[in-house]
Amino acid sequence: MRHQTKTIHAGVDKDTAYNSVITPIYATSTFRFEDIGETKGYDYSRTSNPTRKALEQNLAALEGGIAASAVATGMAAITLVLNFFKSGDHILCTHDCYGGTERLLRTYHQQFGIEVTYIDMSDLDAVSVAIQPNTKAFWIETPSNPLLNIIDIKSLSELAHEHSALAIVDNTFLSPVNQRPFELGADVIVHSTTKYLNGHSDVVGGAVVVNRQDLAERLHFLQNALGLASSPFDCWLVLRGIKTLVPRLKAHEANARRVAAFLEGHPGVRKVYYPGLTSHPNHELAALQQHGFGGMVSFEVEGGIEEANHVLRSTRYFSLAESLGGVESLICHPLTMTHASMSPERRQKAGITERLIRLSVGIEDVNDLIEDLDQALQFKKAYVTSSSALELVEA
Ligand SMILES: Cc1ncc(COP(=O)(O)O)c(C=O)c1O
Repeated sequence: MRHQTKTIHAGVDKDTAYNSVITPIYATSTFRFEDIGETKGYDYSRTSNPTRKALEQNLAALEGGIAASAVATGMAAITLVLNFFKSGDHILCTHDCYGGTERLLRTYHQQFGIEVTYIDMSDLDAVSVAIQPNTKAFWIETPSNPLLNIIDIKSLSELAHEHSALAIVDNTFLSPVNQRPFELGADVIVHSTTKYLNGHSDVVGGAVVVNRQDLAERLHFLQNALGLASSPFDCWLVLRGIKTLVPRLKAHEANARRVAAFLEGHPGVRKVYYPGLTSHPNHELAALQQHGFGGMVSFEVEGGIEEANHVLRSTRYFSLAESLGGVESLICHPLTMTHASMSPERRQKAGITERLIRLSVGIEDVNDLIEDLDQALQFKKAYVTSSSALELVEA
């Protein structure tokens, strides 16, 4: 089965009672036993549920793994994976990871003694130096949130394995359509399915996918023991979203490329972060390890917080909101929103400034999106672009 076919068919359980083409929503907490000790494969929905199983099989097939666990949120997926470790273990983590990941790692450090070192993972020498005898995992987020730095998954996975550590990749920003970390040597993949996988901003969900039998067994034990599983209805929504993942991502990327190019040429923009631009420092690596550049674009406005606030308040089609990966465009201020829980020092180290804005470029008509950004960026007369200058004259 080719990738696009997998999005539609993998795992989808054609119900045997009425031959429904789509996996039904098995909204049941419990399942009747056939006889003592004899079930039809399910006994209790925390442990397993047919709708959830369909999504898990679909995700495992898309990532090329052997097992998956669909959980309530992306943070639940990260919680599940952190429970692979014990007090005294050490994790090396991408220094500009999602703020919620950093908050949870901090909590696990304070409460359970799991050590964490944040590091710029694009510097392989720095990663080698930071490895300790108790290093058990590399937490790799690429492209990183919100600066879209690209990290070399293959080299890092090799380095992790040399030290018997796991290479864990948060693949939320690209989805298995645009990046397949197992093909590059990773051991565990984490997703917030809230984002591109579901794609319609109407559910929160998460997933962990593994490609080793021992990890699969641990995953299923922990999913049941911790009780983090996603509800059948949410799983069904995510399964439905995945069916259009390939065409959606193509549309997101086509728009993001145009938006990034527009921003790069705008005098009100100081810097654009989009791996699809040849000016991006990791453009070549992104082209090599990814199957697409994705729909996320970040940029810094000329000026400071006042100018950034002006843009954030002025867009019409880009809603000021957290999250990403839905069909509608969103705009966000990482400093005060997604990364507010990070300490000022860590934010400064990661390069998250007050003038930084993150866009989740949706699949609307790109001309509307560009016009919207153009009018929002007119915080100085000098920044008026030629087309809008015309309108200004006419007015
Ligand atoms: C890269 C990344 N990982 C994990 C998460 C957490 O996902 P959720 O919000 O579904 O818990 C997010 C949320 O924005 C994210 O951006």
